[in-house]
Parts: sequence; structure tokens; C-alpha cells
Amino acid sequence: MKLLVIGSGGREHAIAWKLSKSNKVHKIYCAPGNGGTALEEKCTNINLNSVDEYLSFAKENKIDVTVVGPEAPLVEGIVDTFKKEGLKIFGPDKKGAFLEGSKAFAKEFMKKYGVKTAEYEAFTDFKKASEYIKNCAYPVVIKADGLAAGKGVVICQEEKDAQKALEDFMVKDIFKGSGKKIIIEEFLQGVEASILSITDGETIIPFISSKDHKQIYDGDKGPNTGGMGVIAPNPYCSDEVIKEFTKYVLEPTLKGIRQEHMDYIGIIFFGIMITKKGVYLLEYNVRMGDPETQAVLYLMESDFMDIIMEALNKNLSNMNIKWENKHSCCIVAASEGYPSSYKKGFTIEIEDNLESKVIAAGVKLQDNQLMTNGGRVLCVVAKGDSLESAREKAYRDIEKVKFKGIYYRKDIGKANS
Ligand code: AMP
Ligand code: GLY
Repeated sequence: MKLLVIGSGGREHAIAWKLSKSNKVHKIYCAPGNGGTALEEKCTNINLNSVDEYLSFAKENKIDVTVVGPEAPLVEGIVDTFKKEGLKIFGPDKKGAFLEGSKAFAKEFMKKYGVKTAEYEAFTDFKKASEYIKNCAYPVVIKADGLAAGKGVVICQEEKDAQKALEDFMVKDIFKGSGKKIIIEEFLQGVEASILSITDGETIIPFISSKDHKQIYDGDKGPNTGGMGVIAPNPYCSDEVIKEFTKYVLEPTLKGIRQEHMDYIGIIFFGIMITKKGVYLLEYNVRMGDPETQAVLYLMESDFMDIIMEALNKNLSNMNIKWENKHSCCIVAASEGYPSSYKKGFTIEIEDNLESKVIAAGVKLQDNQLMTNGGRVLCVVAKGDSLESAREKAYRDIEKVKFKGIYYRKDIGKANS
């Protein structure tokens, strides 16, 4: 099979790498890909950047299946466009993608189908929202309705923080439209888990659980990032937690997908909060997580292409996804300064005796030399029989990666983080 994988991050390198292991796949075009996919077996980078360009390429090159990495093209409706042209594509339709594209839509959906989630109110009127925050309980969470590159959520400890967030989102319009509508949500205290899952619209199969580390500094301090490291499985996801998640989150979600007639064949990623009052859904994502994908796919024993094909054939109910009975640890190496401003264009040197897999993100290949090209530059993923052995291996190997200003957390997967 010939595939087109859309996206340029670490997630897409991990997807392309895993798919390249399938003997059913002989060619993978990565659009636009990165310095890691440029060097991966069976992969070729191709500089395409819009839905129209992906479509023409897929038609002209007789692509068998297109796999969409990031959320933006899904929310734009790439799946609807491809399907209209009779092309096979893995991802939800535009309506399904709105579960990530609009937080207000997602919350309404959760409420309608009885998915357990934090209480909330939605506002489009700045004055009404300002009035509301005068009398609500703190902390409170304010979220921009639309896509905001992971920056649209603010946890406010007191009214003045909430006022500032409302002004930034609704008046200053810092997210260019995405924050004109907002939701104000009850703050939940607990431990987060990422549950990536695959669905064909009739069945949802959860992958192994994982745990992201969102803050930039050790001890979960400092501003949020796209994710600085992941372990899988998530040590807090006990059988009891998964049982509750299945009953109060997964099953009602599936009912909603069916009843709303979403054409949903793709990934659904549940961001959950495990609290003393039970398991709550924080958010849906309609794509795989980054860097969760790197840690999760590293433990997948099954052929990922087979799983995608079973989903496209609406046959997931007969699928049994196999996982290695191991632990993985993924550590992200970032550019100095990230998540604020940082410099790019430094050479990357990697020793050739690593036991871990290096997955590239903000990396480009220039004259056969890997160079830094983003905030989150790359990650190393290791596996072991215990979390501790996976951690040790990953930390040993990340020391063998060098670039100017390299920064990574030292506590990924430690018991208290
Ligand atoms: P979201 O994009 O909705 O997942 O929010 C981003 C991050 O904000 C989450 O990963 C949580 O760490 C935090 N967050 C979101 N909603 C809540 C909430 N209701 N209570 C506490 N933290 C939250
Ligand atoms: N790592 C979190 C996300 O991909 O949304």
C-alpha cells in the first residue's frame, strides 16, 4: 500500500515509523514531514501544505490511504473532501472533528449523552461572563471555544485572573476568533491521564493509557507546553479507573457518535481527570496526542496498518489489539527558551549506540545534517520491563543527543509527577 501521512511533528514521525514496519506498506509520503521522516525507511517527504494540495497529490499518486496527524485539517473538513472524491482517509468527518474544534460543542455533547464532565457555562457576551465570574467559586477554568494551539485554557485562582483571561480572549481577541466564545468551567483536582483510542463509529477500542507531563519544569512547575514527556501505561489507570472510564465516558461517547450520525473512523483521544469523586472527561481530541503517540505506539505489538484497515472496513469489533507487556518512557528535548521564544538552526549530533528510538519533531535535514527547527526538537523513547528500567534507558540515551541549548525535564515518570 501507498500512504500519505499528513503533519510534521513528532506524532507524525512516530506514526510513519510504526506504519513503515508493516509489510503491507511499501511507500509513505510525509506531507510535509520533518528531518526524522526524511531518514525513515520507506518514507519520502513531500512539501504539501493545504487540503487542496493533499487531495491533488493523493489522486495523482494513487494513494491507498491518507492518515491525518493534526487536528486542523480535520476541523477544516479534509475527511469530507477526500470521501466525496472516493478516497480512503483515516480521521473523523468535520462534524466529528468539532468535538475538538469547539469546546462548547464538546461540552454540550457530553451533557446530552451523559458523559461525566465538569460543570460549565458558555458565554459569547463579555459583560455577562464578567458578571458571572464575580460570584463563582475559585479556582475556575476559562477556555477558548476554538482551536488555540494548546494555549486556550487558563486556570484562574481569583477574580482578577479571570477578568484578565476574559479580556484577553473576548476583547483583545488574542486567538483571532477562537476566544470570542468561551466556557467557564468548574476546577477539578486530580491526576490526568491520556487515553488514545480508535473507533470505526460502532466500536471504540482504547489503546494503553499514558501520562503526559505538560509543564516545562521539573515538579510540574512553570508554563504549560505541548508536552515534555510521557510514560505508558499510566500508573494511575488501575482496572477500576478504566472500568469507570468505560462506563461514564467511553460508552456514552459512542452512543453520541452514533446518534449524531458522525462519520467517525479515526482516533478519539480522551483527556481524563481521575479525582476522588470519580473519572471525569476534560476534553476530546480527534487525533493522537503528541508526545503520547511516541510512547504508546512504541509498545504496540499489532500491525498498526491492520488496525487502521479494520477501522476503515468498520470491523473493529473483531479486532484484538496486542501490546507488549512493558513500560515506555519518552523524554522530549526542547530548545532553550521554549515555550516562549527560542532560536533554531543548531546542528544536532546523536551517538549511534542508542537503545532507544529517536523521534524527530522540530528537526530539519539540511545538506545531510540534522538541525533544530522548532521548540520541541525531538524525543527519545525507551522501553523496559519496569517503568524504572524504561526511564533509566531513556535518560542514559538522551545524554547521547547534543545540540546547543538542549533542555529536558529530569523527572519524567518519577512517582510524584
Ligand atoms: P484541555 O485543553 O481542556 O485539556 O485543558 C488543558 C489542560 O488544562 C488540561 O490538560 C488540564 O491540565 C487543565 N484543565 C482543563 N480543564 C480543567 C478543569 N476543569 N479542572 C482542572 N484542570 C483543567
Ligand atoms: N500532549 C497533549 C496533546 O497532544 O494534546
